[in-house]
Amino acid sequence: MSKTSSSFFCKNCGASSPKWLGKCPACGEWNTFIEEVIHKEKTDYKKTWKKENPDKRALKPMLIDEVEKGNEQRIAIKDKEFERVLGGGIVPGSVILIGGEPGIGKSTLMLQVALQFSNKKVLYISGEESDNQIKMRAERLPFSNKECYLFTEVSTQKIGKALQELEPDIVIIDSIQTLQSELIDSTPGSISQIKETAGDLIRFAKETGTPVFLIGHITKDGTLAGPKLLEHMVDTVLQFEGDRHHVYRILRTTKNRFGSTSEIGIYEMQNSGLREVSNPSEILISQRDETLSGVAISATIEGMRPLLIETQALVSQAVYGTPQRNSNGYDAKRLNMLLAILEKKCGLRMGMQDVFVNIAGGLRVEDPGIDLSIIAAIVSSYENVALDSKICFIGEIGLSGEIRAVNRIEQRITEAEKLGFATVYVSKFNKLPKAKNKIRIIETAKLEEFLKLLFG
Ligand code: TYD
Ligand code: MG
Repeated sequence: MSKTSSSFFCKNCGASSPKWLGKCPACGEWNTFIEEVIHKEKTDYKKTWKKENPDKRALKPMLIDEVEKGNEQRIAIKDKEFERVLGGGIVPGSVILIGGEPGIGKSTLMLQVALQFSNKKVLYISGEESDNQIKMRAERLPFSNKECYLFTEVSTQKIGKALQELEPDIVIIDSIQTLQSELIDSTPGSISQIKETAGDLIRFAKETGTPVFLIGHITKDGTLAGPKLLEHMVDTVLQFEGDRHHVYRILRTTKNRFGSTSEIGIYEMQNSGLREVSNPSEILISQRDETLSGVAISATIEGMRPLLIETQALVSQAVYGTPQRNSNGYDAKRLNMLLAILEKKCGLRMGMQDVFVNIAGGLRVEDPGIDLSIIAAIVSSYENVALDSKICFIGEIGLSGEIRAVNRIEQRITEAEKLGFATVYVSKFNKLPKAKNKIRIIETAKLEEFLKLLFG
């Protein structure tokens, strides 16, 4: 006879306890325990896969010097943005979680990746949409793969059986929150279900060397729904983000065991699916006929790529007692620091002004190399003087108003030159090779000096 019982799980970290607790002993959060009914008695459901992970090694301790590097053959992807974000292709046996808000295009992206493979058996498992809906979506996309299988199912036991029979090369699950293990009574999307179903799929991936993509939902505060544990369990976590009302989407890595986490991929949502944007600098700079005040261009580095971005600022007389400071895509604390430097070192009365800063295109930039451009945009708006649209600004600002050197300056300058910029302002401390570029390079060391050069 089967015996059911319930257990309490922490919503934050997934820790379990037989009784309710006010504070989670594992992660220290308060009021996170919720009750879930689980089926304690497990059948001896044991999976044996016909396919074995070719990379399986001896299960005993080994000297690190003696470990032979397996011939880790990454699976190439036609979609070059996606391939780069993963760190150069899919590692066999890896589990990749893709999160994003509803309607952002996760299903479209994964279906399109599935259809772009050739000579690879891909299994797309959907618990959210019907075969018909997926077929209709596939018809909109300009790709086709003769070996792409569809399976609309939510039970992990049935999915396990299909995996045994079909032996796919790549598996896509849409989405992890809809899966349900028959061994657990709680509803799909609950912590115990996610832990169990993801655990099953991860075991499958590791034992057979088959890569598995898991699509995940996002909660209101922007984190992946389900226990944080899920993010620890998988190898790579990708975020698909962007404004649903704009056409551009950004794919970024927040965790990657097999590559850098600073790469981003940019897509444009079209009627026929997502188009790769391989030259993002062109789209990130807004088209404008006349020159407007409060706009300056900078060159930053995202992962391996130089990227030209547009920084915008609006400075206006504060109406209320406390001036507002608002920043979109740029660190708000850093903005406050720049305003304090302008006040103290350059004598600009920023204390009485509202200041808004924005990076165009919905991008978030952490690189301090765009400081100089932010300053140029702020002063341009403050003085109401438009800057020449053919100037690019690269430099980090130090606390005493010095303009500091930035990394990979040559790559940034070359990108600006490639896009037709005539002048670039850089730090004097960047050691530049002489007369290599056609673009005019102006070197400055101090903020006062820079503002004098620019605004007279
Ligand atoms: P979808 O992949 O269903 O989002 P998610 O799985 O993240 O919830 O995509 C949703 C949006 O994309 C939908 O509003 C329609 C739009 N879309 C296009 O604009 N062009 C297309 O070719 C496709 C397939 C979808
Ligand atoms: Mg979807």
